[in-house]
Amino acid sequence: MPLLQVDEVSVRFGGVMANQGVNLHADAGRITGLIGPNGAGKTTMFNVITGLQDPTEGRVLVDDKDVTALKPHKRARLGLARTFQRLEVFGSLSARDNVLVAAEIRKRWARDGSDPKAVAEEVLERVGITHVAGERVDAMPTGMARLVELARALAARPRLLLLDEPGSGLDESETEAFGGLLLDLAREGLGMLLVEHDVDLVMRVCDLIFVLDFGRIIAVGTPTEIQHNPDVQAAYLGAEDPDDADHAAEELTHS
Ligand SMILES: Nc1ncnc2c1ncn2[C@@H]1O[C@H](COP(=O)(O)OP(=O)(O)OP(=O)(O)O)[C@@H](O)[C@H]1O
Ligand SMILES: [Mg+2]
Repeated sequence: MPLLQVDEVSVRFGGVMANQGVNLHADAGRITGLIGPNGAGKTTMFNVITGLQDPTEGRVLVDDKDVTALKPHKRARLGLARTFQRLEVFGSLSARDNVLVAAEIRKRWARDGSDPKAVAEEVLERVGITHVAGERVDAMPTGMARLVELARALAARPRLLLLDEPGSGLDESETEAFGGLLLDLAREGLGMLLVEHDVDLVMRVCDLIFVLDFGRIIAVGTPTEIQHNPDVQAAYLGAEDPDDADHAAEELTHS
């Protein structure tokens, strides 16, 4: 039984089908990729999974339980957390207070006697930002602010974390370190669903990848399978042209 299952989900915005009959799943201790060109419907899928967007059709299941009608905060209690494509942090607060807010919210419903301050320190340490925890987030470089958002999501002690382009704004060495952190978190049992345009990062960390194009899943497979899938190569450049397909294959293997 997968931790998360998306069952035949469609989302219509007027004339646009942002998602069309999407089936996907994600498991604990695994990093599952969700990739696709701009506008493919990745963020919409995250919104459906976390409860910010009602699907036009289909269901979302957590531990085999239908959560499609549950509000976002109820889903959070079941173990879903996310980060946002457009970084959402409290800029005027310190990194520590950003994380503490989440740890305190969790304390209200978790009833496991955890001390929010201790939880906050632990996750700050976990993502490696203890040394800047007192700084205001709006004074931080993007890479650091993204780590604050990640720490805040982890403070809710999720079982499945949805990451929407966490690599954007990170330089090469930050991305390298970030990939290592995601792999460590997976080894500790956290499930992750990763939306990311940095194909190298996706190929390095994911166990299984789902590819969306124009709202539909066009391929599912291991990184190697996805790299060699001609439909995926075509979707990435929107190309039938074999030269373009070669170029796309190159991008997918080592962009
Ligand atoms: N609230 C909305 N109202 C109307 N159309 C929307 C809405 N949200 C998304 N769309 C449309 O749905 C489609 C999918 O958008 P979505 O943001 O899910 O794509 P994405 O894969 O996350 O893209 P990107 O890689 O650029 O972030 C696009 O055509 C987009 O314009
Ligand atoms: Mg998006």
